[in-house]
Parts: sequence; C-alpha cells; structure tokens
Amino acid sequence: MKRPKKLIVGNWKMNPLTVEEAKKIASQVKRSMGTVKKTEVVMCPPFIYLPILSKTVSKNLYLGAQDAFYEEFGSFTGEVSFRELPQFNVSFVILGHSERRKMGETDQLINRKVRAVVDQGMSAIVCVGESTRDNHGEYLGFIKDQILWAIRDVPKKLLSNVIIAYEPIWAIGAKEAMSPTDLHEMSIYITKILKDYCGDASYGIRILYGGSADKVNADVLVREGNVSGLLVGRQSLVPKDFIEMIKIIDTL
Ligand code: PGA
Repeated sequence: MKRPKKLIVGNWKMNPLTVEEAKKIASQVKRSMGTVKKTEVVMCPPFIYLPILSKTVSKNLYLGAQDAFYEEFGSFTGEVSFRELPQFNVSFVILGHSERRKMGETDQLINRKVRAVVDQGMSAIVCVGESTRDNHGEYLGFIKDQILWAIRDVPKKLLSNVIIAYEPIWAIGAKEAMSPTDLHEMSIYITKILKDYCGDASYGIRILYGGSADKVNADVLVREGNVSGLLVGRQSLVPKDFIEMIKIIDTL
C-alpha cells in the first residue's frame, strides 16, 4: 500500500484579529508552495475567514476548519454545519481539539462530528492527548479510548479520511515539545491501536504530532518520532517560520 503523503496543519485558533492579516498570512504561505513537492499543507483559519481565503487553495495547499457541527442545517444557533464548508473549498476539519474538549466536547459528540465530516468526503483531523502522565500508564488507556471513540462506526473505506493528531496537552503552548523518543513510543502505540481495530485499513490513517512544534524541532519530531507530520499552533501564524517547517518536512 502506498504511504500517504506527509502533512503539516496550521491551526490558527482564534487569530488573527483582522481579515487583512489573515489574507497576508495565507498569501505568503501560498507563494512558497511552488517548491513543495511531497507535503500536503493545510491552513485552518477561523470560520469567518474561510470564504475570503477559499481561493487560496492550490496544489498541495488546502483549507481546513477548526470544527464542524454534525447536523446539516436547522435550529442550532452559533454552529457551522459540515455541509456548509465544502463550498469554500474546505477539505479538512480539526475535531476534538483539547481546547474544545475543555469547553465540554465529549467523545460521543466528537464521534458524531467525525462521521459527518468523513461522510461528506472531507478529512477529519482528530486531536487526542493526555493532560498529565501517571506512573502506571493510565494515560495510555485514556488515549486508546479517545481514539476508538472518535472512529467508532466510521465505514472502513472512509478510514483513510481520518487523521489522528496526538497532542499531549502539557506540550501545547508550552516552552518545549515532547521528546522525539517519547513521541516514537506513542506513535508505535497509536499505530498498534489502529492496526488492532481495523487491520490493513489502518495504514491509510496518518498520525501527526502537535504541541510546541517549531522550525528547530520539526525535523527530529517527524523523523525520530516516526509521525506523518505536524499540527502547528503558534508557529503557523508566523509565515516565515511555518514555511521553513514545510520545507524541512518536504525534504524528509
Ligand atoms: P502550539 O499549539 O503549536 O502553539 O503548541 C498546538 C495546538 O494546539 O494545536
């Protein structure tokens, strides 16, 4: 089976403050894509910027949303449905980010969103990760539950539209990323969970790392951590650094 491409996702979170700044970041990233050969890049701005950035997509450059509701339309004040997104060239959706789980999203809710998104033909980037580590390895069971809940009842043929972003909460917005050795352990563990669950179909599910990834650690995290790419927060808002990370990953 052909290995899926490397992937780097920029999660802009609730930034930047103006549409002008959003356009600037997106156009700088787009301009640098000419030399990118093997890596898929996804920019995930806030919902309100998606229409204006919809024309940014080009070869290997995609647009993603930071969430999507599982109902098609109707009386759901404040929500944005999975059906509304593709018209703006959105093809990826981040789901279950720890910042949303903290606001009350449950595994069951995330699973409904994952199924809606992949049914629609988009890719779901599912975030999982422990808030702390204990000496007995209980966090491992916690992560396994988060993963198996997220992909529950996703048809086998759509599993390649699922991406697991492992983001230990203690490494998000922190000074340092997790060590590549620890990440390698986790990527082996997550690969095994997926393989046990769906056999060969698991090869299509990419595993990303997220949490204080930057241009200095991008190379070792992906290479030694043995992941398919990165989910990048802060550094995705600094085009120069984000572009450097893309280029580093593209050489791997
Ligand atoms: P960070 O955020 O890269 O700023 O640590 C990552 C994330 O929350 O996805």
